[in-house]
Amino acid sequence: QFMKIRALTLFPKMFDCLNESIVGRAVKSGLIDIRAVDIREYTADKKHFKCDDTPYGGGAGMVMSVQPIYDCVQAVDPDHEYLRVYMSPKGETLTDKTARELSAHDNLLLLCGHYEGIDERAIELCVDREISIGDYVLSGGELAAMVVIDSVARFVDGVLGSRVSHEDESFADGMLEYPQYTRPPEFMGLRVPDVLLGGNHAEIEKYRRECSERITAERRADLIKAKTAASADVKTGGRYMGEITWFPGHMARSPREIE
Ligand code: ADE
Repeated sequence: QFMKIRALTLFPKMFDCLNESIVGRAVKSGLIDIRAVDIREYTADKKHFKCDDTPYGGGAGMVMSVQPIYDCVQAVDPDHEYLRVYMSPKGETLTDKTARELSAHDNLLLLCGHYEGIDERAIELCVDREISIGDYVLSGGELAAMVVIDSVARFVDGVLGSRVSHEDESFADGMLEYPQYTRPPEFMGLRVPDVLLGGNHAEIEKYRRECSERITAERRADLIKAKTAASADVKTGGRYMGEITWFPGHMARSPREIE
């Protein structure tokens, strides 16, 4: 799989940080091609390069004009080969499921708004899907687009290495992930749970599943509810806490409390 991502923005330099870490490595090894396209280059106003204007009907702030956006989208994607996504707090909320879905597209266009938003006709003419990264308002869609890019890139084949599976990570099974440890076995008096040092894979799996259930029940009752509702298995539904027979005491407390 080879994925092309185009971010349409008035602030292309913001996307430079994608050259770091896992996404940066994926770009360097040719698995993903990410480009930030400057909407300003497509404005018809070749004198002042204006891309925004005051809102019809009044109100605070500026609205991004439809013409530069439309022409930019047409230049980048003349044959509508890209899934065209507009980053907006009014969109559907990004989830693990959304990220997996988007990663199945070979061509992804992410339109970033700024100021008070973009002219509604740009959404009508140029957008397939509106996505929000959460219930808060950012000053622009760029950070949201980068969140989408990072979360989607992880599902592109080869990005995390050939042997990595997504089965264990948080949200994979509608659950939060179990805690991880690495060497040393003891630090500041805090020991790695014995079961993880023992090499009994059945026991380790059981321990991790119980940790997942516990932390999900404690922090995200909504996930348990959704899972219970989705599951035909009435036997385990809504009884996660009750099923836990043994659990390391340290997980319930922060290291500070133990100290
Ligand atoms: N633009 C401004 N706020 C946003 C949000 N929460 N998600 C996506 N794009 C945005």
